[in-house]
Amino acid sequence: MSLEWHDRLQVDGAQIDKQHQQLFALCDCLPVQTSTGNPPVHRDIHEILNDFAALLNSHFAHEEMLLELNRCPGLVEHQREHMAIQELVADLLCSCMSSGVDLRLLQEIIKNYLGTHIVDWDLKDKAFLASAVAGTL
Ligand SMILES: [Fe+2]
Ligand SMILES: [Fe+2]
Repeated sequence: MSLEWHDRLQVDGAQIDKQHQQLFALCDCLPVQTSTGNPPVHRDIHEILNDFAALLNSHFAHEEMLLELNRCPGLVEHQREHMAIQELVADLLCSCMSSGVDLRLLQEIIKNYLGTHIVDWDLKDKAFLASAVAGTL
């Protein structure tokens, strides 16, 4: 799966962007299908998803801390969007452990997070995601 970073996705020109880029890079490691057409190796997908979930959780916590410090009026809605994505990732990890990888759900998460969340939420609240505004980081 190939996802590319674009300058138009830039939020703060610093830590938030670096975290987004790390998430992009991790998604690039997620094979939807191997080059031979065989299903992806279950263990590898699970490990990548674990890393993705950990990175996503720390990234969301970081954003929410900044949104709160900067008194973002849309904090609750933004948090709700984060929670919806975290629930999808948790479902994916569960299905990965019990019945194999749900590639459709995997694509949905990537599309939801990287395709729309940054544009619809992070960029909308970008003034409140700046560390300089909080003055603490
Ligand atoms: Fe983000
Ligand atoms: Fe966000």
